Amino acid sequence: MKVLANDGISQSGIDALEKEGYEVITTTVAQEQLINYINENDIVVLLVRSATTVRKDLIDACPGLKIIGRGGVGMDNIDVEYAREKGLSVINTPAASSHSVAELVFGHLYGLARFLHNANREMPLEGDSNFKGLKKAYAKGTELKGKTLGVLGFGRIGQATAKVALGAGMKVVAFDPFLEEANLELEFFDGQKVSFDIKTISKEEVLKQADFITLHVPAQKDYVIDEAEFSIMKDGVIIANAARGGVVNEVALVKAIESGKVARAALDVFEKEPKPEIQLLMNPALSLTPHTGAATNEAQDRIGVELAEQIVNILG
Ligand SMILES: NC(=O)c1ccc[n+]([C@@H]2O[C@H](COP(=O)([O-])OP(=O)(O)OC[C@H]3O[C@@H](n4cnc5c(N)ncnc54)[C@H](O)[C@@H]3O)[C@@H](O)[C@H]2O)c1
Repeated sequence: MKVLANDGISQSGIDALEKEGYEVITTTVAQEQLINYINENDIVVLLVRSATTVRKDLIDACPGLKIIGRGGVGMDNIDVEYAREKGLSVINTPAASSHSVAELVFGHLYGLARFLHNANREMPLEGDSNFKGLKKAYAKGTELKGKTLGVLGFGRIGQATAKVALGAGMKVVAFDPFLEEANLELEFFDGQKVSFDIKTISKEEVLKQADFITLHVPAQKDYVIDEAEFSIMKDGVIIANAARGGVVNEVALVKAIESGKVARAALDVFEKEPKPEIQLLMNPALSLTPHTGAATNEAQDRIGVELAEQIVNILG
């Protein structure tokens, strides 16, 4: 049986599928040629990431297709309900990148706590002429150990981030309207395990108690962090948004930075992607990444292997 991985797949995923007798094609077929290609080559499984779209017309025109797979989480590019109505299996890999996002958040938080985002910008320009000035400017760093991390949205990524925080010696407080408690098991290199039960508390309490705040909520209608939320945070709080553009009000964030309420912040996602506001890009209090939370080799490997396992389970 043939699998077309139109937006690519990791070698580990190819190996797992080939071992079970599948043929994996990794050519990227242009969107307008996709229907023909699938039919002419008897493709049974179409795997995509975010680039290729799978709409009703393709589903109707490719009766041989049995599975549509999305490497990653969001399935906005697939007509999921329609495909399922037509008897196709639609699969994704929601957990594969959780730890990668968690580590990116901590990359930002550690960096912000010690002004690495600024030092990296300014050392190339002034490192030889103003070494002492920069040393003084970045002297008042803080440690994460012993501080409180507030997690908004305590699902897969929120919990993965909490585990990294616990491992780093932080206290974790969390808010999630749909979850009362979570058991987090930390595994260490030598097989030891330590488990923590974390009961969620109110959003207000999380915002009041946290020294660092990280968001891991799904996209939603209203801002999760807006002016009212900023106003009850600790002065000098550090915030990270690696969830979705639009869960933090960016205008209110810039205001909160200007007033000193928020010391510094990290953004991996933006209200306007792929053209974030210039006021964000040029703001020295921000540590920025271009939506790379899930972009690690390990996550890609897990995505490939998880897709392969699900395909084999469905088709045998
Ligand atoms: N930066 C990246 O590259 C990247 C990668 C993958 C996922 N994401 C994003 O991360 C977010 C979380 O993903 P996940 O896999 O952990 O999802 P998840 O569904 O496992 O967890 C989300 C949690 O948020 C909770 N929630 C919903 N509304 C809330 C609210 N208003 N306040 C507090 N909690 C709320 C839900 O109950 C759920 O437990 C999603 O927005 C996803 O798109 C980003």
